Amino acid sequence: MKLALAVLVSGRGTNLQAVLDAVADGRLSAVISGVVCDRRGALALERAAKAGVPTALVCMEDYPSRKEWEVALADAVEALEPRPDLVVLAGFMRILSPAFLERFGGQVINIHPSLLPAFPGLDAQKQALDRGVKFSGCTVHYVDAGCDTGPIIGQRVVPVLPDDDVDSLSERILEQEHELLVEVLSGFAARWEEEHKE
Ligand code: GRF
Repeated sequence: MKLALAVLVSGRGTNLQAVLDAVADGRLSAVISGVVCDRRGALALERAAKAGVPTALVCMEDYPSRKEWEVALADAVEALEPRPDLVVLAGFMRILSPAFLERFGGQVINIHPSLLPAFPGLDAQKQALDRGVKFSGCTVHYVDAGCDTGPIIGQRVVPVLPDDDVDSLSERILEQEHELLVEVLSGFAARWEEEHKE
């Protein structure tokens, strides 16, 4: 039995693309049950559709409260077939509450463009440049109730070069994000298959 993933996105979806490609060419033995997005017109939705993966759009502005939006979001994830074993936040730009996390047994992971616990939150690459660090990178971590604070699963280091600006640093970190995310998911998939041998 293969690990079933839900991927939550808000934007351009290059991390999603890395996962789609890895599944398509057999480097990642998992099923992408669906992609759930909170922004109309996100490029990530096109990437999913092109790969033949089901999509759902759950925008906060369509709900009377944040709480109701989040319940609808969790319902959309839970309704995917097969039911996701792991929820992957890949450029998903909202904080999720403990109620959401509990519905998925804490099996929610996120990718962030810094070496956490340094530089959580928005504009992590700019924070790193402003602080003058010589090394930054990316982190995949479990999601908890804080902002980018959950237990760390994997990291990649990226040197900050003297001429770097936000764009150049972000681009080099992004390349590592794509590899790290697929590597971490492959680890989850291997453990899953081991634990669910028929
Ligand atoms: C990535 O840098 C990710 O680490 C952060 O948001 C960005 C999303 O990029 N959480 P993309 O949508 O996967 O291209």
